[in-house]
Amino acid sequence: MSGSVMIEARDLVRDYVSSGGLFKPKRVVHAVNGVSFDVERGRTLAIVGESGCGKSTLARILTLIDPQTAGSLKIDGKDINIARDGVTHDMRQMVQIVFQNPYGSLNPRQKIGDALTEPLLLNTGMSEEERRQRAGDMLEKVGLAREHYHRYPHMFSGGQRQRIAIARALMLRPKILVLDEPVSALDLSVQAQVLNLLADLQEEFGLTYVFISHDLSVVRYIADQVMVMYFGEVVEYGSRDEVFSNPQHEYTKKLFAATPQTDIAAIRKRVARKAGAEA
Ligand SMILES: Nc1ncnc2c1ncn2[C@@H]1O[C@H](COP(=O)(O)OP(=O)(O)O)[C@@H](O)[C@H]1O
Ligand SMILES: [Mg+2]
Repeated sequence: MSGSVMIEARDLVRDYVSSGGLFKPKRVVHAVNGVSFDVERGRTLAIVGESGCGKSTLARILTLIDPQTAGSLKIDGKDINIARDGVTHDMRQMVQIVFQNPYGSLNPRQKIGDALTEPLLLNTGMSEEERRQRAGDMLEKVGLAREHYHRYPHMFSGGQRQRIAIARALMLRPKILVLDEPVSALDLSVQAQVLNLLADLQEEFGLTYVFISHDLSVVRYIADQVMVMYFGEVVEYGSRDEVFSNPQHEYTKKLFAATPQTDIAAIRKRVARKAGAEA
């Protein structure tokens, strides 16, 4: 299993064309401008970079929400071009996304159970009983309780809501999770809990993660590979240890210099746990 490439991106481009107007010329923004990387099965690629550098645009391409303007994307060996081929249920089941703000992605009028079972209703032929069963199981897996099935989003804390959003993203048993700033809106202590949960889920389900963050201490904790973006381009890409110990690009050096030292003990523990799991 290990060593196989789950995501292969080559020269991905996403342009936005502003309509201009009567006297304004059309303007093209290269939001993502020739981005290439591989993510191995069961591993985590962290994507770092300042606001507006194209992280979320890339996330939407990877999760089949938006098509690329150019370049190729392979997921689990399959060529993906949604502009040409559309999105099948199978593809939808491969990759799911978790956003920064779970309140925005959860409908306040929808019971948690309905939010969780909805992807199954739309994409599978599972019976109501099977859907309910899997939702209950998944609530327990993310550290909540089966009884929470009948509650509404406002009855939960921010951290619990993000757990629900993660559970929802996992309902279709995807192979890949794209996490776009998943803990950035949470208190520090809650961040650590959610990061630990994500690490546990990755191990249990063999998930491949693309983890977007502007917080280098979080990246250091969670990442196997690190990619730094700057104005739509990749300026740094390598193993976490390579990038953190020997940043090449001026932008990355500045970014690192501006970041406080991190909780080394927690990082060591996580690395040791991963190494142990592989032995
Ligand atoms: N729907 C859109 N239409 C036009 N421009 C966009 C759109 N979405 C993003 N952009 C532009 O693309 C660039 C990258 O944005 P984004 O991917 O959201 O960056 P990040 O997530 O790193 O903050 C920015 O210049 C942004 O203004
Ligand atoms: Mg963003």
